[in-house]
Amino acid sequence: MGTGIAQTIAQHGMPVMLSDVDLARAEAGKAAIEKALVKLVGRGKIEADAAETLLTKVTPIGDYEPMSEASLIIEAATEQEAIKQAIFERAGKVLASDAIMASNTSSIPITRMANYSPDPARFIGLHFFNPVPVMGLIEVIPGLATSKDTTDQITAFAEGLGKEVVLSQDEPGFVVNRILLPMINEAVFVLGQSTAGIEDIDKGCRLGLNHPMGPLQLADFVGLDTCLDIIKVLYKTTRDTKYRPAPLLVKYVEAGWLGRKTGRGFYDYSGEAPVPTR
Ligand code: CAA
Repeated sequence: MGTGIAQTIAQHGMPVMLSDVDLARAEAGKAAIEKALVKLVGRGKIEADAAETLLTKVTPIGDYEPMSEASLIIEAATEQEAIKQAIFERAGKVLASDAIMASNTSSIPITRMANYSPDPARFIGLHFFNPVPVMGLIEVIPGLATSKDTTDQITAFAEGLGKEVVLSQDEPGFVVNRILLPMINEAVFVLGQSTAGIEDIDKGCRLGLNHPMGPLQLADFVGLDTCLDIIKVLYKTTRDTKYRPAPLLVKYVEAGWLGRKTGRGFYDYSGEAPVPTR
């Protein structure tokens, strides 16, 4: 998701540093942006010159030092709190005194994570949606200690990326995932109970609800591990059994079938077109 965020920021004329576990991975991130741009140029969606200018604005980095120049650091690591904590603590050492730190978490409490940063007043949730350059929404989530100035600056930043903003309180799943994940989880229950097959569940939601993707296809797109992480957070923090993870979702994750990124989830992506696996 970090590459989509970096692409969107650069597309709006701002310089952006792209960081990952090491420089090679950060460079691979920039290469992924280039690949997406080549496709867009080929389809006449963007001029070749504009794509080139955009790419010059993205600088891969291999350590935290250069982040001291940033006015905003956006963390978009995997949905594991310990990993995020380590990032906030390292980035916090170089965070400029007037800079803001934001997390793209989809479900972990902002108020709690703010304590991993040097100044909780300058810490906030900034939740993007995939694919970032295409989706029109950003959720802004102030924690208990987030200052109004930080919320205002981040809202203006999000709107400057051409997105609409929904302001959410710091409650589990915020607004959209609180609604989306129970739907995806329920779709897996429906599949697990053999009420219908993968294709029919997705077809039902595409044609019956006018969703662009069915819930199982969307789960593959988001990543089944990410879906499971989010539903687990909802379950653990609320203790409401309506959020208990579907056993079949747990099994898929245990099998390492995580969706598009591993080539197999509810669909198999090894051929030209996705093929349902059940
Ligand atoms: N940069 C800029 N534009 C891009 C792009 C990129 N990297 N990739 C694609 N696009 C553009 C395409 O050019 C195309 O533009 P036009 O409509 O002007 O032609 C448009 O995006 C759609 O692309 P495609 O034609 O390739 O694909 P599609 O029509 O099949 O749509 C989709 C793909 C946008 C993903 C659509 O299926 C969709 O909206 N799916 C649902 C996505 C969704 O729900 N996302 C939220 C997931 S939840 C989440 O992210 C939060 C979380 O915490 C889990």
